[in-house]
Amino acid sequence: MTKKIFYDIILVEVGCVDDFTPKKAYELLLRDVIHDSSDLEKKENRWIWHSLYVGEAALRIAEKLKLDGNYAMVLGYVHDIGRKISHEGHPIYGYQYMKRFDLSSYGRSCLTHSFINNDIHLTAGVGPSGNAYLFLDYYLQVTQVSDYDNIIQLCDLFCTANGFTTIEKRLLDITRRKGVTEYSKAHYDSVMELKARIEKRMGIPLYQLFPEIEKEDLSSISQDQEALLELIEQPQVKK
Ligand SMILES: [Fe+2]
Repeated sequence: MTKKIFYDIILVEVGCVDDFTPKKAYELLLRDVIHDSSDLEKKENRWIWHSLYVGEAALRIAEKLKLDGNYAMVLGYVHDIGRKISHEGHPIYGYQYMKRFDLSSYGRSCLTHSFINNDIHLTAGVGPSGNAYLFLDYYLQVTQVSDYDNIIQLCDLFCTANGFTTIEKRLLDITRRKGVTEYSKAHYDSVMELKARIEKRMGIPLYQLFPEIEKEDLSSISQDQEALLELIEQPQVKK
């Protein structure tokens, strides 16, 4: 898939909360990380591409659901913004980063994106531990899941740094990288339930909204699903 340039790379000051448009979220995402277009090609910045595709996917789904597409796009752009600080612990770093700009209402996607229906157990691979667990568990318990949380949670699972793929392919890849836990099957089931719920509300299959998904990925859904189920239904192996 040919990568799309979303906007010109112009870094400007971030505006006020009410005026936090996708373009401003994009500028905040690139701030201090992407200085020119060559930085976008660096391996360590692949997460920026992933974030941009999550934003694009969230926009499409939200508009199909007659929700606020711009808000969904902003949440998608910033959901992994904590990776500027550290990959490990990026949800909390991201939320804190957004708070620094008085944008904590948008930072909710930093905290909720990895947990389906805002349930701390429904995550891919090994979940948070220690103080991060305590903070996230509390935040997720007092934060009622919204349509926007659900949209970003789903988009995170079919958007890569190269564009859109199937949930089955991406979950298989994530599971191979992050390992299997006692919650992996419950997480998979919740993802499929969320996908079906959103499809029912949209009135079309999810992948129909993303014609850029490679034919190969679509034709290997059954195989990927089978391989994934084989992994997550195995005796539990904690990492
Ligand atoms: Fe992500």
